[in-house]
Amino acid sequence: MQTKFFSSSSLQEAADLIHMGETVVFPTETVYGLGADAFNAQAVLKIFKAKNRPADNPLIAHISSLDMIDSLTCDFNPMAQSIAASFMPGPITLVLKKNGSVPDAVTAGLPTVGIRFPKNEVARTFISLCNTPIAAPSANISGTVSATTFEDVKRELSGRVGGIIEGENCEFGIESTVVDVTGEAPVILRPGSITLEMLREILPQTKLHPSLISETKVEKPASPGMKYIHYSPKAEVVLVYGEREKIVTYFEEQLQPSECLFLFQEELEQFSKNKMSLGSAADLNEMAHRIFRQLKQVDLLGYQRVYIPAVEETGIGLSVMNRLKKSSGGKAIHL
Ligand code: TXA
Ligand code: MG
Repeated sequence: MQTKFFSSSSLQEAADLIHMGETVVFPTETVYGLGADAFNAQAVLKIFKAKNRPADNPLIAHISSLDMIDSLTCDFNPMAQSIAASFMPGPITLVLKKNGSVPDAVTAGLPTVGIRFPKNEVARTFISLCNTPIAAPSANISGTVSATTFEDVKRELSGRVGGIIEGENCEFGIESTVVDVTGEAPVILRPGSITLEMLREILPQTKLHPSLISETKVEKPASPGMKYIHYSPKAEVVLVYGEREKIVTYFEEQLQPSECLFLFQEELEQFSKNKMSLGSAADLNEMAHRIFRQLKQVDLLGYQRVYIPAVEETGIGLSVMNRLKKSSGGKAIHL
């Protein structure tokens, strides 16, 4: 397939491709999305094909104004409204009861639909020119790391999609917080840049899904819990628990030429071997912003293993660790 490329000044042409039932990759503030008209089931099936995505994994429908929400859900309830008032547009997805008109291809047959109103200007203008909700998963081959830069999507999806819109590097760098608001209290299904703490400020009853809590169990390196391989680069990912100073000293001795260590900016200068920066330890939003791009760099540079310091699982740290535990499949060392 010949992929067309668009700049942010040719969004109408990109929207025309959507109207023709094609797939178009677009930037958002979280990660790039691989979109199609949410009301065109045939077009939506092309997304699954382009990504090799299992058909039982539902897609998020993206809107460019809250007015569009009623085309997707029959129950924009007060809880959802208060989250929308505080955090939309932004990096959050609401799971709501779906309207009968939403194709099963989008929701994987579920009675609910994920709805996201992105903040990114290019995304919003594009969706509004499409004049229909855009179903979009992250723009990457299933199982690999989500793409957060134009270079990454171009390399991975050229020839597999109808078009790609060139945008800036994604501001937040990890996928949106997914929150189920169909029950009595909001339940976070996937942590993201809108944190549990932030949601509790407006809805104190907000909970984490139990699977996110039990996952905090740390596995020994000898027993790689391979069940959750996801967000995986080709290189082996190993989480490192321990004081940052200790990590530097240990790997100064132990790191092999085929391996790389992710470090915070504060320790970067002290370390003489293969390294990449996660930004300052004082602001883990920077780690979130960089992590997927750096994981892709690890593969591009041909490293076979990467060691990543574990961070505390609160706030944005919970969201970053959620991805990294999946990348590592439970492989960790304790110093
Ligand atoms: O930031 C994001 O959310 C990005 C950008 C492109 O918007 N999209 C994204 O999509 O990450 P995807 O498909 O890679 O992840 C969507 C997640 C999946 O874990 C999916 O299972 C869940 O949201 N999801 C979607 N609809 C759902 C529903 N109705 N009920 C429960 N989970 C749902
Ligand atoms: Mg994804």
